[in-house]
Amino acid sequence: MPSGMNRRSFLQTTLGVAASTLLPRSLLTAQSRSSSPLAYDATPGAPPEPFQFPRDFYWGVATASYQIEGAWKEDGKGESIWDRFSHTVGKIKGAATGDVACDSYHRYKEDIALMRALNLNSYRFSIAWPRIQPTGTGPVNQKGLDYYSRLVDSALEAKLRPLPTLYHWDLPQALEDKGGWPNRDLVGYFADYCSITAKAFGDRIKTWAIFNEPWIFTLLGYHAGTHAPGRANPADFLHATHTVNLAQGQAFRAVKAAHSDAKVGAACNTSHGEPKTSSAADKAAAERYNAFRNQWFVDPPMKGEYPRLLVDRIPPEALGIKPGDMEIAKVPLDFLGINYYDRQLVADAEGWETLHIKGENGEQGPHSEFGWEVWPDSFYKLLMRMSNDYGKPVIEITENGCSYGDTPDEHGRVPDQRRTNFYRGYVGAVARAIKDGANIRGYHAWSLLDNFEWAEGYSQRFGLTYVDFRTQKRTIKDSGRWYGQLAATGKLS
Ligand code: FCB
Repeated sequence: MPSGMNRRSFLQTTLGVAASTLLPRSLLTAQSRSSSPLAYDATPGAPPEPFQFPRDFYWGVATASYQIEGAWKEDGKGESIWDRFSHTVGKIKGAATGDVACDSYHRYKEDIALMRALNLNSYRFSIAWPRIQPTGTGPVNQKGLDYYSRLVDSALEAKLRPLPTLYHWDLPQALEDKGGWPNRDLVGYFADYCSITAKAFGDRIKTWAIFNEPWIFTLLGYHAGTHAPGRANPADFLHATHTVNLAQGQAFRAVKAAHSDAKVGAACNTSHGEPKTSSAADKAAAERYNAFRNQWFVDPPMKGEYPRLLVDRIPPEALGIKPGDMEIAKVPLDFLGINYYDRQLVADAEGWETLHIKGENGEQGPHSEFGWEVWPDSFYKLLMRMSNDYGKPVIEITENGCSYGDTPDEHGRVPDQRRTNFYRGYVGAVARAIKDGANIRGYHAWSLLDNFEWAEGYSQRFGLTYVDFRTQKRTIKDSGRWYGQLAATGKLS
């Protein structure tokens, strides 16, 4: 893929759209420094109705190990595919790495204190497999377990529910050397790691997410090559998706076997595909898009099959399905975690190989600096759809957020009104979905901190807290204060 394209633009060109539809970065940067942020009125959709969230609603933030921890080779941690990838010249914008990132490995207490200051009651973080098993199999690294034990204890002391993700993309490099996710042996290795981890923490951790965004990490890691491990091989991608579906099933069983009271779910990537025109062909294409993007890793656990619309066009042999596999993949997830960032307008046109879908970014709403359109109404629609398609499951929003590069002003404040506007609109969409019957019990903003944004390095700031990466000083942004008030009262107005 052409260098210099970011994650989102790759996804779009993959689906058949030129990167030129994105606003030029220079323009976006200029906007971010502007002292007259977009008024809420510019945000699409009706302003949210006032809403009182339930008292026991989870208000949280989400982070991921590689994006915040740093300490990349400390206390016996093994090398991950993201260590290897970011240390390879030309892979990450600005030659950035996660070697130090937000240094949260050493500053986790400060970060927990930030969450307390924001009145939160849930912390979604991820556990780095190479800290627990440096080479992905075999001996356990006690110091790695100790780190997460301290983190979990601090979270509990601060009255935060710990919600770890067992895999947020930092595969032990030793397992990539054995073939990575296309290799079915990883099913067993992953289940072993999950078992070790659940046994170690299951007394204190009651809710787990298995994979973060399987579609994204398999597509970008094995098909596009823009994320670790940087391979670009369509056949490997398809095999990786199936291994991950099997691994999801076995991980679910491993965590339950370790602690039968554990609640185990997934953090799914989602987008809302809307037909570009009212033609029947575009409507059908939007359905294929939704199957591709939203259902590939949810239908197997929840229904024991791949989405029919995909199977019609991607033969089972290409995925490497063997007899009995779908029984392994089928597990009754206790909750669906929804990560949501954008909608796509989809046409029936040349794109994504046999699926024949061409997606493009919506252009009606304003855009964040990543180029993602702000369009909360699509979030409401996606939530209703997931709720209805899977029989009203328990849903948690495991990620939702936006990148804007606002920096501290002369008084040390970070007035990031556009981010507040974003959250107000999207939390409003959650409120609407609850009113209309969706069983949503939590919301996690992405992210607590500005952090290492994968191939974008440090160029995209998603935090409710500004991080000065030279000093590691944290400053809660105005949007963070707004969110903290919302968390304290549960009252959206
Ligand atoms: C999601 C990832 C998360 C972060 C946000 C912006 O796709 O899960 O780690 O990078 O995007």
